[in-house]
Amino acid sequence: MQGYVHGGVKGKEGLTYKDNLEELRPGKGEVKIQLKAAGLNHRDLSVPKRRSNGDPEVILGSDGAGVVSEVGEGVDSVKVGDEVLINPGIGWKETSAVPPEGFQIVGFPGNGTFAESIVLPEENAVPKPASMSYEMAASYGIAALTAYRALFTRGQLKSEQTVFIPGIGGGVATFLLQFAKAIGARVIVSSRSEEKRKRALELGADVVLSNEEDWGEATQDEEIDLVIESVGAATINRSLDLLMRGGTLVIFGSSTGDTAEINLRSFFYGQYNFLGSTMGSAEEFSAMLEFATKHSVEPIIDTTYKLIHIEKAFDHLSEAKQFGKVVITM
Ligand SMILES: NC(=O)c1ccc[n+]([C@@H]2O[C@H](COP(=O)([O-])OP(=O)(O)OC[C@H]3O[C@@H](n4cnc5c(N)ncnc54)[C@H](OP(=O)(O)O)[C@@H]3O)[C@@H](O)[C@H]2O)c1
Repeated sequence: MQGYVHGGVKGKEGLTYKDNLEELRPGKGEVKIQLKAAGLNHRDLSVPKRRSNGDPEVILGSDGAGVVSEVGEGVDSVKVGDEVLINPGIGWKETSAVPPEGFQIVGFPGNGTFAESIVLPEENAVPKPASMSYEMAASYGIAALTAYRALFTRGQLKSEQTVFIPGIGGGVATFLLQFAKAIGARVIVSSRSEEKRKRALELGADVVLSNEEDWGEATQDEEIDLVIESVGAATINRSLDLLMRGGTLVIFGSSTGDTAEINLRSFFYGQYNFLGSTMGSAEEFSAMLEFATKHSVEPIIDTTYKLIHIEKAFDHLSEAKQFGKVVITM
């Protein structure tokens, strides 16, 4: 089997394309999915950096869609031939404050979707709407799930409110924009790229900010109820400065660095809420798909690469060239 693995050497140097990977068979309660497409996430760039020299090989990739090719003992929710997409969270069924002990993300520590097939628990194989292409179905995954929980479960965004989303080029950020506009909320975004700001306006953003301009001045007539951060150290203080007193900042990522200095006095005088968010439950994954289907929210696919050219896809994502999702086809 062909696939893209990380192992042996920490970081990018440990990434290898292989054509002799062992195909697994599903055990009790598991299904095997012949993958047709997989979606890339920032996580696929960060997992190799977090591993150590000498670590065993693991197939990367959390998002995917394909056809069930074999089912293990006791499987009754899907059958061979079913078209499915993958819920990338393993072991988090009902929505709760934090995932249960043992929660894992597909694609590390277990094998992931950058391969011709994958074996997963049956509940992670979610029926794919017939009208949805495999590339589209593989693009929801982590990004759409994370956006849904951050915006609605954690951020509690309402239609009459305004949300600010920095770094709109990101895969999660584009879903945040689309989901927020779907309920009729006002959306302000920022990007370093003029092209991405243009794309955001086409997707319905009400106000777009460049990273060079004074955000406070540009939004002085706005009341921003909610900020959804993922850029991290580079923008966190600028984002907080925009938030109205008593407002909420939800953070689910830190692309530009994990540590930042915050003025605590301004923070408590402002009566702000600072919430963390990560991924989401199977319940939220189903609610997200239902929401996306009801409001016709389709993933924005930036570029599609064949599995054999996956290294180019990694470069594309690491250079933050994309607007929306980068997809691999098998
Ligand atoms: N906790 C979770 O469950 C979870 C789930 C998904 C993602 N994440 C995290 O959330 C973050 C975003 O993920 P993603 O997959 O959407 O990533 P992505 O597609 O790579 O997008 C990151 C965006 O951040 C902005 N950015 C990058 N470097 C910047 C800089 N130096 N200054 C200002 N802006 C910068 C860029 O926006 P512009 O080019 O538009 O400026 C870029 O498009 C990552 O850190 C990821 O690890 C966490």
